[in-house]
Amino acid sequence: MEASRLEQQDQPDEGERYQELLALSRVSAAISGLWDLDAVLKVALDNILKIMKGTIGGILLADEQTQTLSYHIHQGLSDRYVEKMRLNLGEGIAGRVAQSGKAILLEDISIDSRVAHPDLVSAEGLKAFICVPIRAKDNVLGVINVASRKAHRFSSKDLHLLHSIGDQLGVAIQQARLYERLRKARERYRKLTRQILVAQEDERKRLARELHDETSQTLSGLTLQLQALVGMVEKSSGDTELIARLKKVQSLAVQVHTEVRRLMTDLRPSLLDTLGLVPAIRQLADTRLRPLNINVSVETIGTERRLDPEAETGLFRVAQGSIGNIIEHSKAKNATIAVEYQDSELVLRITDDGKGFDVSAITDVEESGRGRGLFSMRERVMLLGGTASVESKIGQGTTVWAKVPIVHGEEHG
Ligand SMILES: Nc1ncnc2c1ncn2[C@@H]1O[C@H](COP(=O)(O)OP(=O)(O)OP(=O)(O)O)[C@@H](O)[C@H]1O
Ligand SMILES: [Mg+2]
Repeated sequence: MEASRLEQQDQPDEGERYQELLALSRVSAAISGLWDLDAVLKVALDNILKIMKGTIGGILLADEQTQTLSYHIHQGLSDRYVEKMRLNLGEGIAGRVAQSGKAILLEDISIDSRVAHPDLVSAEGLKAFICVPIRAKDNVLGVINVASRKAHRFSSKDLHLLHSIGDQLGVAIQQARLYERLRKARERYRKLTRQILVAQEDERKRLARELHDETSQTLSGLTLQLQALVGMVEKSSGDTELIARLKKVQSLAVQVHTEVRRLMTDLRPSLLDTLGLVPAIRQLADTRLRPLNINVSVETIGTERRLDPEAETGLFRVAQGSIGNIIEHSKAKNATIAVEYQDSELVLRITDDGKGFDVSAITDVEESGRGRGLFSMRERVMLLGGTASVESKIGQGTTVWAKVPIVHGEEHG
């Protein structure tokens, strides 16, 4: 008998409707807040069997690509039955329900001519059978089966209730699938970000090394040669105009060399690899903030130790981004950088006493690049399994902090 006919014959009264609502809200409470499809199906089936006072049942889901239905969860059915019961849409009882979106209720499935595998059904000893669609909007996602081996008859009220549960489960399944898609997309994005960051660090290392080995060496030679030339001209001719010009050229060469050194440290300070995070941060603070008359203190709390290179690089980039922001935006006079080594965490805190800003106004990366620094800092720290945040109030300075786990046994240095 199909649901539409049943519904006309046999509408539930007020009391039954109340019981039905109660059962429905129980299922809904049980599955709400579950994001994992397997967990949703398991909890739903447990609750359905409890409500129906049954012990045999299962949930079959449709595969959109193959257009087949198969069991995703079951109770009280043999593995052989579940394994073999793969149905095309339109095939057997479940296939028909999935195709038409209409429920089927049978007093004895073992004698029904529409059954796809009668041998399996009789071997399983199934009799009373109820099958309802799991719907989400106009799509049928699968079916719920509840069966009995006894000559028990499911009522039209059971059917009605199960039908409503099917509709609710449809929404929950769709949500779980969307969540899964979102989770996968986020995972992909994280993987890609990590790879981009690794490639960027490699490229920076390569450039820094090249600048060190080639450009910087050549500039050293050039400065020395110019110095020697100045000495020679001073001794031989005493041409003051020439000496002054040569000295100017030499000082320009020194200036270029200093610039190249600064570029090298910005790209990848060799101190980060040789001595670690704190010396590299100290060097950065000294070379970037002090020349601008910003007082800066770099403090360590706890026992300083080496972390894995990825963590040291990530944290160094956070410090670098924050120092860049202090220089570009803060108008601060004082800054403090604290590196706190706890048992299982490292906390980096960069504070300035500058003009501050409204953190809640930075909600996205703007075309101008505004927001890129802060968001990429957070992303880097998250990739290290940590957390990061920016706290600031207009007129009251800014604090950036990052907390990353220190994995024991993986410490370096
Ligand atoms: N220490 C700070 N003091 C005052 N304002 C700040 C500070 N740090 C960040 N800001 C504000 O937050 C905005 C976003 O910073 P973020 O580092 O994300 O981008 P940006 O510095 O503008 O660009 P980029 O870092 O790509 O060069 C800045 O434009 C600035 O307005
Ligand atoms: Mg910035």
